[in-house]
Amino acid sequence: MTSSIESSTSDRDALSRTALKDYVKRVCPEDYLEQLLNVVREYTDHELPHYTDALTAAFQDVQPVFARPRYAEFFWHCATTVPGYAARVTLANGPAESEGSEKLFTLWQGVHHDDVAAEQVLQHARDESAHSRLFVRLTETAFPAFLPPGAGTRLAATMPDIRTRPLDKTSVSVPHEHLIDHLVQMNIGEIRTRLHMHLFAPIIFGFTPTQEKPTSRRILESLVKDEVRHIGYTALLMEQWATDGAGERIRALYQNRLHIFNELTVEQTEGAVRSHGRGEFPDLLEL
Ligand SMILES: [Fe+2]
Ligand SMILES: [Fe+2]
Repeated sequence: MTSSIESSTSDRDALSRTALKDYVKRVCPEDYLEQLLNVVREYTDHELPHYTDALTAAFQDVQPVFARPRYAEFFWHCATTVPGYAARVTLANGPAESEGSEKLFTLWQGVHHDDVAAEQVLQHARDESAHSRLFVRLTETAFPAFLPPGAGTRLAATMPDIRTRPLDKTSVSVPHEHLIDHLVQMNIGEIRTRLHMHLFAPIIFGFTPTQEKPTSRRILESLVKDEVRHIGYTALLMEQWATDGAGERIRALYQNRLHIFNELTVEQTEGAVRSHGRGEFPDLLEL
């Protein structure tokens, strides 16, 4: 990520066609999935053969919109032509991460049968609560004129923070099959989040005033690092469960859930394509 930020901001003509091509090639390389798998293997220190099979087959079948070069091109287009877009998108991550943290906490409350998985889910929930605040801070750091004074603090105070909750489990327990399904979905969601971070980082860093760049960089790097951890622990759980006999189930879940997640991504992107695409992205959302 460091080099992508540096080369992007050192580019003297940040809006040129060459800069766009360069950006897309870096954030969405042709061997995107292979690079992702290598990062996850390195993090988990495991070859992850079952996980690799399941994810690769699902990607081949679905070809998710978020991993296509056009998706990165569209983000670049919006961030460089629509006033306030980059700031709005950065801030919107705050409440979204807080909501994700709530879901994870609720899941943790119901996991009674697997303490190792539960502990990791709880840590994940805590991370996302911290991220929700970090995104507000990042917005204030990178776009100092975007929010009126005090608005960031007020917004942060309205977002639920599970880190202050008592650690009470619910009496209804989540069946193991449901836990696998939840974490397959989580793993896919985190893959998209990491990609989003790669889309955002060079642009947010580019907007950040010079004196704030070190803070902006620190926040961005810590966010990406955490997302790799979230992909990593869920991938390793999948690998272990597949080794214990759930391989077929996991493979089928990846196909099914990636398909549904892809449709959701299209729905979430349609409005922006209509408002900001200027008719230049008719192919972006074709499934
Ligand atoms: Fe996050
Ligand atoms: Fe995450």
